[in-house]
Amino acid sequence: MKEAFRRIFGADPDGVWAAPGRVNLIGEHTDYNDGFALPIAIPHTTLLAVRRRRDGRLRLHSAQGDGPLIDLDVASLVPGVVTTWGAYPAGVVWALREAGHRIGGADLHVDSTVPTGAGLSSSAALECAVAFAYNDLFELGLSAPALALVAQRAENGFAGVPCGVMDQMASACCTAGTALHLDIRAAAHEHVPFAPEAQGLRLLVIDTRVKHDLGDGAYAALRAGCERAARRLGLAALRDLAPAELPRAGRMLPADLVPLVRHIVTENARVAEAVSHLRAGRIAALGPILTAGHASLRDDYRISCAESDLVVDTALDAGALGARMTGGGFGGSVIVLVEEDRADALAAAVTGAFRSAGYRAPHLFAVSPAPGARRIE
Ligand code: GLA
Repeated sequence: MKEAFRRIFGADPDGVWAAPGRVNLIGEHTDYNDGFALPIAIPHTTLLAVRRRRDGRLRLHSAQGDGPLIDLDVASLVPGVVTTWGAYPAGVVWALREAGHRIGGADLHVDSTVPTGAGLSSSAALECAVAFAYNDLFELGLSAPALALVAQRAENGFAGVPCGVMDQMASACCTAGTALHLDIRAAAHEHVPFAPEAQGLRLLVIDTRVKHDLGDGAYAALRAGCERAARRLGLAALRDLAPAELPRAGRMLPADLVPLVRHIVTENARVAEAVSHLRAGRIAALGPILTAGHASLRDDYRISCAESDLVVDTALDAGALGARMTGGGFGGSVIVLVEEDRADALAAAVTGAFRSAGYRAPHLFAVSPAPGARRIE
């Protein structure tokens, strides 16, 4: 990173930061409903070398981007001026300035192993790396959760994506060997032990390598649907609806909102169930919870797709303990919990099923919970 930085900017960086991508074990689309989620950070990481500048310029370079250096003026950053990948780092700088922090310009070089468009939160990783670097270099004294909120503000207000805060919290706050139990309303998080290898298990990530366009507007529409349902029920958020109240709520809501509400309420309950199993060290017991979560996203929330369903069905046929799509939906990645000695056969079965269906070969890899964002140099 240092060498690349020197080549691009002709000077040494002040430091190097790292921030990971994530997969969510359970608790999907619950974050913007004030609910619960259980992500882990993955070993795939965004690295960022940074040098402060005194002239208010923000210059951005990416090892993955093929474009030229992006050169911006910090004082005139406004939403809409950057529409490429540069919107994420520039958005963080904008969000910090908006929040009243005394920050300036910098040279940034990014290199990432987090696949983009795979539902593994490459944008949150980039945002968090920048937020952590700025926090250190400009001595802002912000906590990791506060930096996650800055990163989310960048995505909502600058990049224009109305996401919740799960991805940024995962990238900012996860620790190795644990899953992050998030309670969004309480702004609380807790690290729960999660080491599948120690129990002879593997957590596989299977990137379907499809991203259906539908996803873009659909996320905002789903979020709006949940908020409408909460208003109709007289609740601050769907987090406030207990499973026992679902039948009564169903009678008060228009038919199209009922399955959305059912997903959120049952999904929050699945997070609680999963956390109690993990606390007791019963990782295999997550399997059926994952699979039930997938059925709920497929049938009630309706954000799965043929490719993700094929992975889940094939994995279960090949003996997986459980499988589900993870992340925002409409493609992206599936997670599979499987006994170690079945993992290879399962991977071959999924690859074979994709070939037979005429789909592009999926990317498969095992993950274990990795550390969150930090300074590494
Ligand atoms: C995306 C968003 C998150 C969350 C998930 C679904 O990853 O960025 O905030 O809503 O979708 O759980």
